[in-house]
Amino acid sequence: METFDSISERASVRVYQSKPIEKSLLEKLVDAGRRAPTARAIEPWEFVVITNNDILKKLGEIATSGSFIKDAVSCIVIFCKDTKYYLEDGCAATENILLVAQDLGLGACWVAGDKKPYAGEISKLLGAPSDLKLISLISLGWPKTRVEQVKNRNLEDVIHWEKF
Ligand SMILES: Cc1cc2nc3c(=O)[nH]c(=O)nc-3n(C[C@H](O)[C@H](O)[C@H](O)COP(=O)(O)O)c2cc1C
Repeated sequence: METFDSISERASVRVYQSKPIEKSLLEKLVDAGRRAPTARAIEPWEFVVITNNDILKKLGEIATSGSFIKDAVSCIVIFCKDTKYYLEDGCAATENILLVAQDLGLGACWVAGDKKPYAGEISKLLGAPSDLKLISLISLGWPKTRVEQVKNRNLEDVIHWEKF
């Protein structure tokens, strides 16, 4: 798939089939994440790949805005070292993963981590070192149904040439 097609066809998918995702595909997703642009080339990220049903259920219970993780077949949890641009770096990695998931035909949804009151509990559940900050959780699975895309703001409404 062309990169722009992956971008324009992507939509958050929150309902999944029970069919597992091959390990090689999960590795490919993390490979995409680790290739994201990163301020000062620090690469502050760590990726925890979850496929265990019990852990997925616990993640869905703790991460209240991502309760659908409990029915996902996998979840990639992104942490970053507390660098100046940890959030930008972690978000770039998250988006890379979403786009490659789309490219592979997988369904995925970005679930907030940073700033959420449950961040500490997720870190504890996954045994994250104390110097790492939770950025996001990406729930994953093969889509169960076709998802309606959100209507984006029009290009002519958001584009400004030279100045506002
Ligand atoms: C920083 C960030 C945090 C998000 N957190 C959540 C979340 O906690 N739960 C959720 O269901 N969706 C979450 N989303 C997904 C957005 O709701 C979704 O991207 C938005 O509604 C647009 O829909 P689309 O992704 O289908 O284009 C998050 C997206 C971003 C960028």
